[in-house]
Amino acid sequence: MTSTFWDETLTEIKKGITKRGHPFRLFTLASISALGTPSLRTVVFRHFNDNLNLVFYTDARSQKVKEIEKNADVSLLFYHPENLLQITVKGKASVITDSEVLDRYWGNIPDGNKKDYTTQTAPGTPMNNPDALEYLNENHHFCAIQIEPLSIEYLKLKRPNHIRVLFSKTKDSWESQFLAP
Ligand SMILES: Cc1cc2nc3c(=O)[nH]c(=O)nc-3n(C[C@H](O)[C@H](O)[C@H](O)COP(=O)(O)O)c2cc1C
Repeated sequence: MTSTFWDETLTEIKKGITKRGHPFRLFTLASISALGTPSLRTVVFRHFNDNLNLVFYTDARSQKVKEIEKNADVSLLFYHPENLLQITVKGKASVITDSEVLDRYWGNIPDGNKKDYTTQTAPGTPMNNPDALEYLNENHHFCAIQIEPLSIEYLKLKRPNHIRVLFSKTKDSWESQFLAP
């Protein structure tokens, strides 16, 4: 009975990649700081692989990379305001190190957008004038992070009943459980 919700979950997540303007193009990423406090930020959802791993790009020097390297536990939040659909993902994040994959991702980024990964100073560095930002000529700090989902929760607000389903990854498949909304 939960299979239609599983199908809808995967279909909607995929649309974040394939459908222009879909609200799942962005998600909120939560990681845990070294002090144990939560950190949140918006990122662009870049790839949804066959093994359901989710990928985003970032600057290797950013705070989130430091946090993920210390503690791989992350949560992702997707929200579709028209469908009143919320998808939360909990999983393990890791830096992609496969150079073939990284070259492919980097090669497909439009030249103008590559700048985002080539600032001379690291993201978060204090500066006096935002227009004085300088860029590296040759080097870059492009980094791709993958998230292996361990649980995915579906919540749809609707009448007569809201629907909430928890999908949990087991060794070989996914289990599902309706939850009281
Ligand atoms: C619409 C939007 C999209 C963003 N996409 C990304 C992204 O794909 N990757 C990224 O590293 N930061 C992205 N950012 C910036 C992050 O939200 C964040 O401010 C920045 O990466 C620093 O985060 P950190 O200090 O926690 O590492 C985006 C911000 C906005 C507003």
